[in-house]
Order: sequence, then structure tokens, then C-alpha cells
Amino acid sequence: MEGKTAFQSKTIVTDLVLPSETNPINNLFGGELLARMDRAASIAARRHSRRIVVTASVNHVAFNRSVPLGSVVTIEAKVSRAFSSSMEVYMDVWIEDRESGESIKANEAIYTFVAVDDTGRPVKIPALIPETELEKERYKAALRRKQLSLVLAGKMKPEDATELKALFFDN
Ligand SMILES: CC(C)(COP(=O)(O)OP(=O)(O)OC[C@H]1O[C@@H](n2cnc3c(N)ncnc32)[C@H](O)[C@@H]1OP(=O)(O)O)[C@@H](O)C(=O)NCCC(=O)NCCS
Repeated sequence: MEGKTAFQSKTIVTDLVLPSETNPINNLFGGELLARMDRAASIAARRHSRRIVVTASVNHVAFNRSVPLGSVVTIEAKVSRAFSSSMEVYMDVWIEDRESGESIKANEAIYTFVAVDDTGRPVKIPALIPETELEKERYKAALRRKQLSLVLAGKMKPEDATELKALFFDN
């Protein structure tokens, strides 16, 4: 199976923040952003695998900046690494300044998707070929994040998370 670049899965979703999507202080409700990111990431995962994909895990979300009512929000999602059947999707979230049109980074998130067949069984997917420096950095760190996610889910023993442990301890 031939590898694919991160660019081939690139997915950009731009939408407004409407009143029904905000919290009591008129900023975008966190769960609404999570759902928007899930949609964008699932499209990126589908573009990479050309398969049915399901969300396996939300690995990291940082709500660094609130997103006010009326904002134009853009989510950029790309597969950052593919394993056997699972893919890490990395997302950058931007808000567009109304007057200057400049994009301001608001949030980042990392989700994991699994490609499955019609019966929901995991299937093999193409490898991810990182090209830019940032893609290479995210690709490298993705293995540690996969191990952390599996350890937290009780699907991997901490002692088997070799690359994750190497972050904290000298060998
Ligand atoms: C995701 C799912 C397909 C995994 O099934 P499973 O029986 O655990 O299958 P496996 O153990 O073979 O794991 C499949 C892959 O998922 C990865 N995976 C499973 N759980 C994971 C987690 N919590 N974090 C990161 N990766 C995970 C495994 O490491 C494996 O990756 P690899 O094949 O690339 O090495 C299954 O748990 C599922 O269908 N979950 C529900 C998905 C869903 O409905 N999402 C929407 C929720 S509303």
C-alpha cells in the first residue's frame, strides 16, 4: 500500500459562530467546537484512508483562546501519522479578525480515528509521509501520544510504552 502525504488529507472547514452555539458569556460553547473538529478530522482521516472512519479517542484539546459570537472560525485538519488501522489527526483552529482579515490562532486539538470495514472491524491503511518540518515534528511525537492514549485507556501496560517513557527517564 503506497504512502500518502499529510497534504493529501488536508481539510479546511470555515464557519460562523451563531447565537445558539455560544455559552452565557457569548463565546463559542466548547462542545460545539469539539463537534466541529470531529467532523473536520473525520474528513481528513477519510481522505487519507478512503475508508469508513470512527473516532477512537480525543487525545488533546487546548482551549487557549475564547471564540466570540459572530467569529469566522477555520479548522485545518491533517493526518499527522498513520499506524496499522489508526490515524492521528492534528488540528489548528483560527479566528479571522473582522477588520484586518488576519488569522489568529485560537486552539489546537489532536484526535485519533480508526479505519473500519462495513462490520466495524479495523482495516489496514496507507502510511503517512511527512514533508514539512512541522509535519515531521508532529509525526515523531504521534507515537508517544498513541502510547499515552492506550495507557490511559487501559489498553497498553505502562512498561510497554517505550517511547513515552523515554520522554521522562534516561535509558
Ligand atoms: C475504535 C475501535 C474500532 C477500536 O477497536 P479495538 O477492538 O480496540 O481494535 P484494536 O485493538 O485492533 O485497535 C485498532 C486500532 O485502534 C487503536 N486504538 C484503540 N483504542 C485507542 C485509543 N484509546 N487511543 C488511541 N488508539 C487507539 C489501536 O492502537 C489500533 O491501532 P493500530 O491498528 O493502528 O495499531 C472500537 O473501539 C470502536 O469501534 N469504538 C467506537 C468508535 C465510535 O463509535 N466512535 C464514536 C463515538 S460516539
